Amino acid sequence: MLIQVEQLVKDYQLNKNQKGFFHAIKNLLMPEYQKKRAVNGISFSISEGEMVGFIGPNGAGKSTTVKILSGVLKPTSGKVIVNGMDPFRNRKKYVSQIGVVFGQRTQLWWDLPAEDTFDLLKTIYKIPDATFKKNMDMFSEMLDLHEFLHQPVRQLSLGQRMRADIAAAMIHEPAILFFDEPTIGLDIVAKERIREFIRSMNQEKGITMLFTTHDMQDIEKTCERMIVIDRGDIVCDSKVDEIRQFSDSERKLTVKFGRQYDRIELPGAQMIKEAGNTKTFQFRTNEVKIPELIAELMSRYEVLDLTVQETDIESIIKQIYEGGAPAYESVS
Ligand SMILES: Nc1ncnc2c1ncn2[C@@H]1O[C@H](COP(=O)(O)OP(=O)(O)O)[C@@H](O)[C@H]1O
Ligand SMILES: [Mg+2]
Repeated sequence: MLIQVEQLVKDYQLNKNQKGFFHAIKNLLMPEYQKKRAVNGISFSISEGEMVGFIGPNGAGKSTTVKILSGVLKPTSGKVIVNGMDPFRNRKKYVSQIGVVFGQRTQLWWDLPAEDTFDLLKTIYKIPDATFKKNMDMFSEMLDLHEFLHQPVRQLSLGQRMRADIAAAMIHEPAILFFDEPTIGLDIVAKERIREFIRSMNQEKGITMLFTTHDMQDIEKTCERMIVIDRGDIVCDSKVDEIRQFSDSERKLTVKFGRQYDRIELPGAQMIKEAGNTKTFQFRTNEVKIPELIAELMSRYEVLDLTVQETDIESIIKQIYEGGAPAYESVS
C-alpha cells in the first residue's frame, strides 16, 4: 500500500477564554482549552496508481485529512504512512515526493507573475533545466498557461490561478498528489477542464491521487473509488460503479391516496415519507417490477395520483450522510 492511514484522530484546541480584564489575567495564568475533534479515528489505504475521491459536506474533516497527509499538520493519534514515510516527521524529504493543492489558497506569489513562482520552485526542488522546460511546455500546453504566466497572480481569474497552482504542485514530478477542493468556486467549463487534466495525469502518468470535493460530479467524472466522510467519520468507502448500480435500480414512488389509510402495506416497497394522504415509498427494480407494484397498489387502495422517480447518486450520498442508505451495504 502506498498510503496507509490507521485510526487517525485530529483534535483542534479551541481557546475558550472569556473577555474582560479579570478573565484576561486568569486566562494568562490558566488558559482553558476546549477540544474540537475534526477527524475521529479514520482508516483507509490507497494503492499505487489509484485515484480516490474524498467527498463530504462542509466541516466533515476533508481539509484536515489532506493537511495531515501532506505533512502540514501533526495527527493527535493514529498512524499515517505514505510511501514508507511519516509525513510530519520526515517532512523535509517527504515534501519533494508529493504535490499538494489547496483550492482555497494559493502557493503562488500574489504580486508577481506566476512564472516567478515556477522559477523559485525550480531552485527549491533543484529541477534540472531540461526537466523543467519539458514540464513547463507540457503544462502550458495542457492547461493553457502561456496566456497568463507573465501576469501578476492577483490579476488572474480563479480558473487560471487554479490551473497555475496545479502546475506548480506538479512541476517536480511527484508520484503522489493531494488536492483539496481543486474545483471549488469554478464554473462548469473550468471544472470540466480540471477534471479532464486530473484524469489524464492519473491515467497517462500513473500518478496516485486523493482529492477532496463536495461536488459529486467531480467524483463521477474522475474517480473509480470514493470515500465518504461526515463529521470526522468515514461512512462509506466503495467503488463508484457499485454506488451507481445501486442508484440505477432504486426508485421512489409517491402516491396520493383518495382517503386516509392507517396502515399501508406494499410488498417490496418501504414507506420513507408521509404528508397527509401523500406517501412516498422506496423500492428497487431488481426486487420488484414497477407494473406489478402499481397493479398491487391500485388493487388494494384508492389512488388519486402517482409518480415514479429515479434516485441519483447525489441523493444516495445524502442518504449516507443522513445515517446510511437503508438498502445500501458498502461492499469493500
Ligand atoms: N484550525 C482549526 N481550529 C479549530 N477547529 C478547526 C480548525 N480547522 C478546522 N476546524 C474544525 O474541524 C472540523 C473539520 O474541518 P475541515 O477539515 O476544514 O472540514 P472540511 O474540509 O471537510 O470542510 C470543522 O468542524 C472545523 O470547524
Ligand atoms: Mg475543506
